[in-house]
Amino acid sequence: MAIELRNIQFTYPSGIKALQDMSLSITNGEKVVLMGSNGSGKSSLCLLLAGVIKPDEGDYYIQGQRFRYCRKHRKQLCRSIGYVFQDPDVQVVATHVDEDVAFGLRNIGLKEEDVQQRITVYLELTGISDLRKQTVHTLSYGQKKQVALAGVLAMEPEIIMLDEPFAWLDYRQSQRLLGILNLLNEMGKTVIVSTHDSQFAYEWADRALVMQNGQLKADGSASEVFAREQLLEELDIAPVKQNLSCLHHS
Ligand SMILES: Nc1ncnc2c1ncn2[C@@H]1O[C@H](COP(=O)(O)OP(=O)(O)OP(=O)(O)O)[C@@H](O)[C@H]1O
Ligand SMILES: [Mg+2]
Repeated sequence: MAIELRNIQFTYPSGIKALQDMSLSITNGEKVVLMGSNGSGKSSLCLLLAGVIKPDEGDYYIQGQRFRYCRKHRKQLCRSIGYVFQDPDVQVVATHVDEDVAFGLRNIGLKEEDVQQRITVYLELTGISDLRKQTVHTLSYGQKKQVALAGVLAMEPEIIMLDEPFAWLDYRQSQRLLGILNLLNEMGKTVIVSTHDSQFAYEWADRALVMQNGQLKADGSASEVFAREQLLEELDIAPVKQNLSCLHHS
């Protein structure tokens, strides 16, 4: 599924211009990293792509069709684009883990039998089957992030955006997540990861987008972008070590 932004402007009610003249297109099956310093607009861009915030100016196209922010388009969007929020406390809505994963599935009218099956599959995939009946507010932050991830994956969207997905995860869960990201890519899905981890970005991504002050300052293959050392310094992005691998496949 192809998505495209044309000249998007978005200002929060507080007056902060979070997205400025943002134009980009992302095609099917790309592995994209979204980088930039704190407050550069990465999460705002994800919220815009997820249809949560509406631009003040500019247009958003999904499969060549202009997104109109109406009920019908929003409903289609929540089935095709999944967003794992930076903060799981914003995302997790139900009292129990299984109910939380079920929430979106019931919303799209899936049969209860299929809902239960998807809960089983996606809790297993994210490594949290043992948390199925736990109350969400007793979970650790990292566990809540996994619940939010399971809920988004269970919707089986074509495009998955993950905002700082490795933050708070331990080594084993990070390796598991890496496996999931690669699996999604092998399934032909588009995966967009917002991250501060240059080494991961360089080694994993096909394409790197770098933001600063709400603007897109770099957009190219990860190897091209990370070769531009001066630009990276201007954008406050850590350089990468060419011969060191952070991707340990288990
Ligand atoms: N709900 C909000 N209301 C007002 N301003 C906001 C809101 N959310 C974000 N902002 C502001 O918009 C700008 C972009 O924030 P955003 O969260 O998109 O940055 P980010 O690149 O995701 O940062 P980080 O790396 O810290 O997650 C910042 O100046 C931030 O203070
Ligand atoms: Mg953010």
